[in-house]
Amino acid sequence: MTRRPLPWREAWERALYAEGGFFRTSRPAEHFRTSVHIPAFAGAIAEVVRRTGARQVVDLAAGGGELLTALQPLIDVELVGVELAARPADLPESIAWQPALPDHVDGLLIANEWLDNIPCDVVELDDEGVVREVLVDPVTGEETHGNAYDSAWLREWWPLVEPGDRAEVGETRDAAWADAVSRVTGTAIAIDYGHTRDDRPPFGSLRSYADGREVDVVPDGSRDVTAHVAVDSVAATTGATLIRQADALARLGLDGARPALELAHSDPGAYVRALSAAGEAGELMASGGLGDFWWLVTGTLDHGRLTP
Ligand SMILES: C[S@@+](CC[C@H](N)C(=O)[O-])C[C@H]1O[C@@H](n2cnc3c(N)ncnc32)[C@H](O)[C@@H]1O
Repeated sequence: MTRRPLPWREAWERALYAEGGFFRTSRPAEHFRTSVHIPAFAGAIAEVVRRTGARQVVDLAAGGGELLTALQPLIDVELVGVELAARPADLPESIAWQPALPDHVDGLLIANEWLDNIPCDVVELDDEGVVREVLVDPVTGEETHGNAYDSAWLREWWPLVEPGDRAEVGETRDAAWADAVSRVTGTAIAIDYGHTRDDRPPFGSLRSYADGREVDVVPDGSRDVTAHVAVDSVAATTGATLIRQADALARLGLDGARPALELAHSDPGAYVRALSAAGEAGELMASGGLGDFWWLVTGTLDHGRLTP
């Protein structure tokens, strides 16, 4: 592995996606839990498909194919996983699997927790008030300042104020989602954790995770490298509507409230099922957790159509 300090974006790209990189060698579900691991999430996406009349669902960054596998018994449409990692051995045969987006998506494009894994330049304001690119040693994670860095995106979306302030430059995410959306006739939904101009994290949000816990941020290929998404910038670039996951799911009919206790007496089986569904909805809609995630919605399923 290279020992010279690299610009963060390059080190990040290699760590996750090069031969032997984190996402080439391990399945995301082995390291963290996302919405697609909760069955009620697929129920909500199936409802999106019904409301929009989509004929195809393309899951970009499909991970282990969990969402598509859960969708299969719920809806009768073409299901396609787009994923750099190999096709999971246990994926149902009828689900297509490919390494890159098709030129054209006719229906619903969904990307859960993809944008946060798109590498960005990382910058920091130095003691002289100059914005510097941050370089990183890919083995130790040790950081140094590189060249002065100028970016219109930074000035517009994430101006740095105090020495030590840091940012992840979101241009790569804006461009990636704009490219994906440009292929879609129908609806595109990106779902991720993020921030807007009102609540940018002053020191950035670079994080690493492995084996279910947060670990030191090191782009060495042994762990995830992620940063929250500047969702307002992605929305402005793509014309998307921003809505919190809790609100989107409520509009799609999910409800985290406990079922009435009388049901336990009149129909114990139904009560247990309702209790389990409410538990799943509660986790997906939790404030301070998955419920705070942002949905970037473009196309047929505009804000209004999230209401039946
Ligand atoms: C955090 S995981 C999310 C997986 C799944 N969507 C979920 O919510 O659990 C990010 C996934 O994006 C995949 N990925 C990253 N860039 C990609 C690209 N350009 N095309 C296809 N897959 C990509 C990675 O291989 C990884 O499996």
